[in-house]
Amino acid sequence: MYKLPDLKTAQVKGKKVFLRTDIDVPLSENGQIADDTRLGEGLETLNFLLKNGATVFIGGHLGRPDGLKRDLSVKPVTKWYAKKFRIQNSEFRVQSIGGFEGFQISDKLFLLENLRFDPGEESSPTTRSGQVFAQKLASLADIYVNDAFASSHRAHASIVGVAKLLPHFAGFMLKKEVETLSALLNNPKRPLAVIIGGAKIETKLPLVEKMHQIADYVLVGGLIAEETKVLLKVQHEKVNPPAGGRKSALLVADLNSEETDITPKDAENFLQIINLAKTIVWNGPVGKTEGNEENLEIGTAKLARGIIDAGVYSVVGGGDTIAYLKKIGLLDKFSFVSSGGGAMLEFLSGEKLPGIEALTSCT
Ligand code: 3PG
Repeated sequence: MYKLPDLKTAQVKGKKVFLRTDIDVPLSENGQIADDTRLGEGLETLNFLLKNGATVFIGGHLGRPDGLKRDLSVKPVTKWYAKKFRIQNSEFRVQSIGGFEGFQISDKLFLLENLRFDPGEESSPTTRSGQVFAQKLASLADIYVNDAFASSHRAHASIVGVAKLLPHFAGFMLKKEVETLSALLNNPKRPLAVIIGGAKIETKLPLVEKMHQIADYVLVGGLIAEETKVLLKVQHEKVNPPAGGRKSALLVADLNSEETDITPKDAENFLQIINLAKTIVWNGPVGKTEGNEENLEIGTAKLARGIIDAGVYSVVGGGDTIAYLKKIGLLDKFSFVSSGGGAMLEFLSGEKLPGIEALTSCT
């Protein structure tokens, strides 16, 4: 079990805190926040810091700007915080905050512009550019808090680099994720079924392989299944058998002829496994969900209902999956909702997440 540095023991009064949190929310086509679950969950840590007299510099990323894509500015997130804290300011302008672009939300609260606008953020912490960016971030604050579980599988400057340079603590959201997922990882009720769908193929393909180490069944559907079917099967044949002589089966769903959803037959096959399982972990829709909120016959909705009806311990994670389940009113029926997608799967596969390692191993 990880021993995370406890934020409640930190002396934050009068201190400047760099809070790395999850502001990577889904945006609608007109640039509005389509689902604010992650922001809401991060409020406990932010409120704690502000109530205890800290000045807080929030840093995070929004999407994958791949350079400077201004449509991925964090301005909508600034407005969200302003509304939450009842701050009257209709016009937020980008300003300089300690050498960074960002927004001042109140006297004590600042939000830095999308950290991925700077190539240093995603550079490895061992490179010069990664180190320079981490040092620049660290120069803003006296204390570092990581509450961004969903990004802690990335060895990025704001996740790993700053933790090495400042006294560091785990935010409450991150702590809850680590405790809940550790308990599941250490003693899952079997059979354990893991369902993987969604986009971000390059992140998830290696995770399918790793999941065989803990899962009895790995079910893959949606875009990743369609685009990597052959690779997934080859990969599965080479998987080292999990400990204890246990077997781990792989089911890969086909897409329907319109390529919008898994076939009804595959949905049925998935449901059969779901009904056998005693623990279910799910990340990623298995078909197109946008614009389908009214159609509860699509594969993703059927799986959601099947998991809930199975009445076993269920964990769901990832931005798109959460946003969809919230829209169809089923999110609160899951036993645990993880803010992480790739991070949740990586953690549950037994891998060490760089962001969590940085909090526990740095002095
Ligand atoms: C996520 O949504 O999974 C996190 O914000 C990480 O995003 P990334 O896959 O672009 O690093």
